[in-house]
Amino acid sequence: MFSLDRTLIPTISVLQLIMLLSLSLMNPTYAYSSVDFYSPLLGGGSMLDNAGDGLGEPLNVIISGLSSPEVLTLDGIVNFAKSIGFSEECLGLHLGAPQSANLGDGNDWVNQTDYGNSELGTCLETLIGGNHFRVFEQNGPNANSGALFLAVSEEEDLEESHDIIPDGYNIGRDKLAALAIGTTHFDGVTYVTTARNLTGLLAAGSVGVNHGISTDGITTLLTVTIVEADDC
Ligand SMILES: *[C@@H]1O[C@H](CO)[C@@H](O)[C@H](O)[C@H]1NC(C)=O
Ligand SMILES: *[C@@H]1O[C@H](CO)[C@@H](O)[C@H](O)[C@H]1NC(C)=O
Repeated sequence: MFSLDRTLIPTISVLQLIMLLSLSLMNPTYAYSSVDFYSPLLGGGSMLDNAGDGLGEPLNVIISGLSSPEVLTLDGIVNFAKSIGFSEECLGLHLGAPQSANLGDGNDWVNQTDYGNSELGTCLETLIGGNHFRVFEQNGPNANSGALFLAVSEEEDLEESHDIIPDGYNIGRDKLAALAIGTTHFDGVTYVTTARNLTGLLAAGSVGVNHGISTDGITTLLTVTIVEADDC
């Protein structure tokens, strides 16, 4: 907000005033976007990622672009993931090569968000009970919703293998959503999360799905809002 000192007004030209006013109109809005997400299908993208073998994992959870902007960042999603039960004890195991996705936003196929070699990255891939997700950001110029698309799966015990269990995509999605819904906290941040199931984005069945695992075709949309600690 601008507070113009009266004594300054006479020295400001009309042109400068217009520039100041238009600058104040350009202040960013609170959320990244006014939409939950854009359907990747409308922009030539896919709701299956590319696992590198011609098949893909379903993008079965979307963190809405209407979520608090602080959630829709690397640090933000890491903190939120911890609030829903990601282990802080990292086993030091990695889950294979990165996968890529085309979210129809003009960025074409992009690797999953790289959590790097940091300790955090390993933690993120290790959730209690073998739940695991990869993250893709819808932030290209044609569909910049800021939404995060997650490929969520439930895997066998990490120490045995990294194989996805039968029905592991549906189970992984539902488990993550169940952990997320409601109020969660981590590191002084409190989240309130609501969920809605969407159909029509993913086809039910196993066509094109990695490991031939059939799914019910549901994508769960999560809207994650940070609330003041005092509110709870
Ligand atoms: C995606 O990851 C693969 C495997 O690590 C790597 O070879 C490739 O260069 C990456 N692509 C991009 C666009 O970063
Ligand atoms: C979404 O669908 C799954 C599978 O039918 C169900 O378990 C879950 O409760 C649903 N979630 C919501 C928010 O409707």
